[in-house]
Amino acid sequence: MTRHFRTLLDLDRKALVDLIDRAADLRRLRGTPDHPRPLAGKSVAVIFDKASTRTRISFEVGIVELGGHPLIILSKDTQMGRGEPLDDTARMLSRYCHAVVYRTFGQARIDGLASVATIPVVNALTDEHHPCQLLADLLAVRDAHGGDWSRVSVAWIGDGNNMANSWIHAAGILGFRLRLACPVGYDPLTAALAEARALGRGDIEVVRTPVEAAKGAHVITTDVWASMGQEEEAKERMRAFAGFEVDDALMSVADSSAIFLHCLPAHRGEEVAASVIDGPRSRVWDEAENRLHTQKALLEHLLAG
Ligand code: CP
Ligand code: NVA
Repeated sequence: MTRHFRTLLDLDRKALVDLIDRAADLRRLRGTPDHPRPLAGKSVAVIFDKASTRTRISFEVGIVELGGHPLIILSKDTQMGRGEPLDDTARMLSRYCHAVVYRTFGQARIDGLASVATIPVVNALTDEHHPCQLLADLLAVRDAHGGDWSRVSVAWIGDGNNMANSWIHAAGILGFRLRLACPVGYDPLTAALAEARALGRGDIEVVRTPVEAAKGAHVITTDVWASMGQEEEAKERMRAFAGFEVDDALMSVADSSAIFLHCLPAHRGEEVAASVIDGPRSRVWDEAENRLHTQKALLEHLLAG
């Protein structure tokens, strides 16, 4: 059966732990003769309906380092941008390529692509989920706090968006404590909470104040207040998220070993103070680099055999 990565739930606990371990191996092997080339002779289409810097570059570099050929495609330049049905695109891509990585709007488009494609489909961000980013974030947490997930406490501050939903899945799969501080009206998906809780691990709650979430946490993380596609709501959102900035006062209620993560791009002075993102507890550049290592481990896993 074709393996896909539509959300983090496509990995069970063991597969996710192994993948993060493998990413650390690939990081160590980078640039050495022992680095594997499992994509030799294979082509991977990486298609964008939305803008990207990190995802685009880390997939392109990663595919090359695995010996494969990346095709970076802006859908607006293709027949997809002129309305060619997604199913037809999936059939055609399956004849040319060995995997497809796709960034789009609704999650239904990823699920639709995966239901027709006979090659692995990777979700490179939808309105609902951003599982590739979580792989990178989890490696950063493992680096800082070790791999005993039952002892880790994470605070999500701000919008209950695609990143928040993927953090919820991660907490359910790995079994860590997650508190999400979201203003009323900006909660994460009820379905994501139910899916994560159904796994019977983790301790996941939505709270209303950043301090409640951050108290004693080992990881403080946030994201923009207006995601791609929500530009018209930006002003209204600025008002709704007042008091949800991650600043030094909030960091001071976290555990003394706490790190700060942000998937980027960031807006200093909105969701995060410059003194935090550019300060000693920030791990955002390692986190961004980890996209490369974790996505290489992901492609290796999906294309194994
Ligand atoms: N974090 C992330 O996905 O960044 P890009 O939008 O630049 O790909
Ligand atoms: N929540 C953000 C993440 C960007 C990487 C967005 O969807 O725009």
